[in-house]
Amino acid sequence: MGAVLAPSILSADFARLGTEVKEVEAGGAALIHIDVMDGHFVPNISIGPTVAASLRKVTQLPLDCHLMVENSDRYLEAFVQAGADMLSVHVEATRYLHRTVQLIRGFGAKAGLALNPSTPLSSLQEILPVADFVLLMSVDPGFGGQKFIPSALRKITQLRQWIDREGIDVRIEVDGGVTMENLDAVVTAGADMIVVGSAVFSSDDPRGNTHRMVRRLAELAEHGSER
Ligand code: DX5
Ligand code: ZN
Repeated sequence: MGAVLAPSILSADFARLGTEVKEVEAGGAALIHIDVMDGHFVPNISIGPTVAASLRKVTQLPLDCHLMVENSDRYLEAFVQAGADMLSVHVEATRYLHRTVQLIRGFGAKAGLALNPSTPLSSLQEILPVADFVLLMSVDPGFGGQKFIPSALRKITQLRQWIDREGIDVRIEVDGGVTMENLDAVVTAGADMIVVGSAVFSSDDPRGNTHRMVRRLAELAEHGSER
């Protein structure tokens, strides 16, 4: 199966959030990526479970909640109750990863491990097989609209090789600075789920922007399948 698009609502117009989500759904988005920031782990504050609960009512798409927070264990249940289908926590902010992954799974959601750009893949050594997905950040978390950090590409490739070598069922999500210009490189390196915020929402055609990227992903799945 080819890679799928996960628009991040961080760059959407929060006053029209329901409409914006419907637009990207109509454009072919596979997931809705919700960036949760606490002002501690990252220097910005965004949204909490109440917003996820409201979005749950307007879309059938899986809600992919990216928790950029300290003490994530405290909030997992609230997000799942709000309708989150996927929850990722940062390895830099999580002391007991096995316990956290178990909690997420126990609540019935998919568990993701998020890595900042400077965090090495080796930090996943003891935990990779128990995760459902890994979220590789390609910008430092905290803000939308930043520039893609090029070394992320090598990291995606190396994680892809690691997963394929082990033959485990772990998906790769890439988040930060993805645009139409670097989409091919990110997919070719081995990403399964591509988060895109500003490139989808910062012009007035989120549906068209989503559609263009989704169409490109379909072309890559058809023609560039060997990797
Ligand atoms: C950054 C967030 C990203 C971000 C992506 O902290 O995790 O999801 O919103 O936005 P762009 O695509 O604009 O980098
Ligand atoms: Zn994110």
